[in-house]
Amino acid sequence: MPAQLACFEEACRARFPITEVIYNCPRCGGLLEAVYDWPANVAAEWKALWRARRTSNAPLDQSGVWRYREFIGFLSDYTSVVTLREGNTPLLQAPQAASYGGLDRLAFKHQGFNPTGSFKDNGMTCGVAQARRLGKERVACVSTGNTSASMAAYASAAGLQPVIFIPHGNIAFGKLAQALEYGARTIQVEANFDQILALVRELAERLGIYLLNSINPFRIEGQKTIMVELMDQRDWRPPDWIVLPGGNLGNTSAFGKALREMLQLGLIGRLPRLAVIQAEGAAPFYELWRGDRTRLRAVTHPQTLATAIRIGDPVSWPKALHEVTTSDGVVEKVTEQEIADAKAIIGRCGIGCEPASAATLAGVRKLTSSGVISREEDVVAVLTGNLLKDPDYIHRYHVGELQTPDAKRITPTFRNSPVVLPNDLVLVTKVLAG
Ligand code: F0G
Repeated sequence: MPAQLACFEEACRARFPITEVIYNCPRCGGLLEAVYDWPANVAAEWKALWRARRTSNAPLDQSGVWRYREFIGFLSDYTSVVTLREGNTPLLQAPQAASYGGLDRLAFKHQGFNPTGSFKDNGMTCGVAQARRLGKERVACVSTGNTSASMAAYASAAGLQPVIFIPHGNIAFGKLAQALEYGARTIQVEANFDQILALVRELAERLGIYLLNSINPFRIEGQKTIMVELMDQRDWRPPDWIVLPGGNLGNTSAFGKALREMLQLGLIGRLPRLAVIQAEGAAPFYELWRGDRTRLRAVTHPQTLATAIRIGDPVSWPKALHEVTTSDGVVEKVTEQEIADAKAIIGRCGIGCEPASAATLAGVRKLTSSGVISREEDVVAVLTGNLLKDPDYIHRYHVGELQTPDAKRITPTFRNSPVVLPNDLVLVTKVLAG
């Protein structure tokens, strides 16, 4: 199954060998994607093969990414793969969240169940496999936290040296802690994500370090399997909507590509619609969608407590725009208050997630109340990160101390603050009886 890199720009579509170390099209500067020469009529065979692999004890088959390897066939062999058994994430029904979101039913595809607690693991196992195949020894990324945690884990597991760049003071502590523990060379830069990305791209070029941001097309291939696994879990019946948070827009690009390719291969019979949700203070893609769709206007100082999606100049916007348009999708934005309350509701379902992930439920609520999504539609929201990534946010919310970046108090609508009591049996009994 020969694979190539192709320029994403319709007017260019130049092709390059799959082993060329490039992150943009050398001819026109466009984004790159992996393309395949797939055999015809493989849908039934692949579905059966993928289902059968669930009973296998072979590491590649146990991975919720590599189980679907025919769909992401960019490697010529699998000797460079390191798997931490990524993917395999559950699809959870959440009736309370459905009712909060104005729906009859809602399911969460929870990517926070991944080995490092976010959807980045699906892509990182692929990015790191490609780095090893190319003989690279060092890998780098700039990150709002999850990419760096994931890259640190996979690179270290693979015997590569991870170098991570993060915005100083602006990532959740759980994520920073992971990067340190997994052994990443960690550089905190006094700049925001977008500014650091420009720096890292230059550094990667100069020092020959392999770049593992989501501009890397192999990470996108891995993230495609989130959609394949979802469809597999639903016996190949697509939902009406897939709702996801948008930051750098790698995931939107990956989901859209996966869905189109699944349709092309006959794995599914129709495309679900994509709904991308951004935080109000970091919503350049929303503005693009609402206005002139030919040019993204970067937000110079993006602000949101959902630090994972605090991005003002998302590199993958041309791909994401194509995917949202093709799927007849929408882009919405939500406030800090809406994210915080939606997050508490997801917690009350016994599920929980990090702030960026909760933008999905906040977005669903907004889209049902404006009539874009109707009550009886079949909706899957993708929770991108684990609740434990950002415990500080949670504590502040529940004790009423959470504030927006411009210092406005967030109302803890679903407050659950701890009670402090003396060690007194009578008093504790009284409180619990009340
Ligand atoms: N949700 C979480 C938890 C994330 O960590 C990210 C991105 C997103 C959503 C947005 O995904 O960028 O593909 O649109 N985090 C990146 C990082 C930027 O560096 O960890 P996207």
